[in-house]
Amino acid sequence: MFPPAAPRHLVQFNPKQVLHAFTDVLVLGGGIAGLRAALAVPSSQRVLVISKEKVEISNSAWAQGGIAGVLSPEDSFQDHVTDTLIAGDGLCDESVVRMVVEEAPRQISDLIRMGVKFDHHNGHLALTTEGGHSHARIVHALGDATGHEVMRGMIASARGAPNIEIKDRTFTLDLLTHEGRCVGVLVATPREERLAIWAKATVLASGGAARIYRETTNSQVATGDGMAAAYRAGALLRDMEFMQFHPTLLYVAGSSRSLISEALRGEGAYLRDKDGTRFMLEEDPRAERATRDIVARAIMRAMARTRHSCVYLDLSHLDSEKVRGRFPAIGRACAEFGLDLTKDLIPVRPGAHYTIGGVCVDRQGRTSIPGLYAAGEVSSTGLHGANRLASNSLIEGLVYGMICGEAAGREAAGRADTFQVPPLIDEAHRETGPELDLQDILNSLRSLMGRAAGIEREGSEMAEALEQLRFWCSYVLRREFTQREGWELSNLLTIGSLMIGSAQVRQESRGTHFRRDFPKRDDTRWLRRITCRPGGDITADVQPLTPEKTSA
Ligand code: SIN
Repeated sequence: MFPPAAPRHLVQFNPKQVLHAFTDVLVLGGGIAGLRAALAVPSSQRVLVISKEKVEISNSAWAQGGIAGVLSPEDSFQDHVTDTLIAGDGLCDESVVRMVVEEAPRQISDLIRMGVKFDHHNGHLALTTEGGHSHARIVHALGDATGHEVMRGMIASARGAPNIEIKDRTFTLDLLTHEGRCVGVLVATPREERLAIWAKATVLASGGAARIYRETTNSQVATGDGMAAAYRAGALLRDMEFMQFHPTLLYVAGSSRSLISEALRGEGAYLRDKDGTRFMLEEDPRAERATRDIVARAIMRAMARTRHSCVYLDLSHLDSEKVRGRFPAIGRACAEFGLDLTKDLIPVRPGAHYTIGGVCVDRQGRTSIPGLYAAGEVSSTGLHGANRLASNSLIEGLVYGMICGEAAGREAAGRADTFQVPPLIDEAHRETGPELDLQDILNSLRSLMGRAAGIEREGSEMAEALEQLRFWCSYVLRREFTQREGWELSNLLTIGSLMIGSAQVRQESRGTHFRRDFPKRDDTRWLRRITCRPGGDITADVQPLTPEKTSA
């Protein structure tokens, strides 16, 4: 069983002893998917958005590359669909891919209407390309700070909407369920009070879990809290074996591992190993513009071959004025370490970037729990298959955010205005014991994930890692913590167990999941998705995907 049985809630809970709030639609998460959901709810419904940090801090705001959408006459929906299916390596849900791709241009126009200023070239939206894209179709802003500009526009719109309230620095402890339905959430407020928020419909948009790795591009908020809360509440999670590793994080000892956008390679940057060899030429006909799974693995091989801790990005052959103008923020990040992006070799290596798996949703964004919808990185829609195409994440957040917001608004409108607080109570015994060094467990967990569930995995290592996780879970999950550090650790241990448990089940290599002991893709056995069920069952779907639906 992964993880070992744990209490239903992170903390003991009695409605008589907590504060209460009521709303029509509750949105958990203030990134792109959460705010898009909030903005899609009809203005007659009250919306409460809960953000773990200040709403300005989210993975969405850190996005550099851009948003993919078919916007030029040379491009077509079919080509964007095909590129997404190829990247997804056989596991995409083609109907979802088509729906998201066809909706993308409208979502980009909506952002422009909200006041988001994308970069222009000769009076038209400037479009760039990234790994796996057959056309230039990625809009960007402020050169390489797309997320910052998009979130600026969306936050301003949400703050301007009279029906939307944003509560920030509020930690989502647990989803509250009654008779199988999600009825709200228990949160910890900035003043460390417990608050039960009761809602007619709830949208989970709390982001991913890549902070479970030491080397990651993600902001400190990405600790899988919403995913773990949904799992404790009984939701199905899917595709948890697929963690996307971005090929290029700045690798300077002592620096934070900042993302060096894929757009650099899109604009023509080369990857060189320690000896100066442009190794991607041997690896894939698309060279540096191959999909992320391929480039990340090739980098790991180049590092092993040259016995060196990184490879290098080389932009010295590109027009230096253009590079400076296009990548101002990345240029500044490099300059902090005395590196000139236009001339110097920039040390990079792969790191965890995007949690492909998550809470299983249907095309309407519904989870397996009535009353609960999910959008963005916390969810598993089937868009990304086994490997996400670059710049397809913000667009997924926008499309599913809108779908979930509209559906939650409809559901809330159909429910009675009077609400009885249900007799929910959790006074289950929690273990006590010596004080734990939570940072020490977290560091050990992050190292374990890198070793056992990194870019390459192997059955025997994962079996040992699961034993180790079982042991940590056995004493951490049965404790009650009073601070965020303990709640996050409990959530990460839960998610780590599901990730490795799922990776152990999938005995093949596909997309971001490469197994040294099963190095080939195996469509005969594994054209299936793996689902984590309440109670710890992790199994492959009985019904395989049909090849026509997955082939490019
Ligand atoms: C990047 O700029 O390389 C990241 C964009 C993405 O994750 O799609």
